[in-house]
Amino acid sequence: MKENKFEFSYKTYDSIEELPEEQQLLLSKARVITEHAYAPYSHFHVGAIAKLANGEIVSGTNQENASFPVGLCAERVLLATASSIFPNIPIDTIAISYKSEDIKSDHPIAPCGICRQSLTEFESRMGHSIKLILGGIEGPVNVIDSAGLLLPLGFTSEELK
Ligand code: THU
Repeated sequence: MKENKFEFSYKTYDSIEELPEEQQLLLSKARVITEHAYAPYSHFHVGAIAKLANGEIVSGTNQENASFPVGLCAERVLLATASSIFPNIPIDTIAISYKSEDIKSDHPIAPCGICRQSLTEFESRMGHSIKLILGGIEGPVNVIDSAGLLLPLGFTSEELK
């Protein structure tokens, strides 16, 4: 028997003001873009902003549906948009924020499991890690160097070869 261990470290900043300037800008844009979400069912508006390796900025917001499982998370809307407009361009950084009609937005949220799977495959197909900046409308901000760190022992295309 061999015991294995998975560890990763990430940074927590007390507030947006502590971030480097470029990251502050991306998180501010993510906060604003929450306004573009279509979330009449959950009342939970998520905004994601990506800075691509070519310098372009792409956004995504969650898009819900009366048939609940049809709804899409902001992160996957963003990845599909980036990949469609700028195919084969890696993403350097994604900032993710949220605004709820029901609860305070005062701490970071992290991508759901399905989005972790999508983000991880995007990283590996581009051979380029995606830094995540996670924060609410106010409060602390988490910075994770690579999205794949959030999905240890994930299922990958390697298994299909
Ligand atoms: N949602 C996202 O867009 N991203 C996340 O990281 C977590 C959840 C959306 C899905 C749904 O529209 C709403 O937030 C509540 O789950």
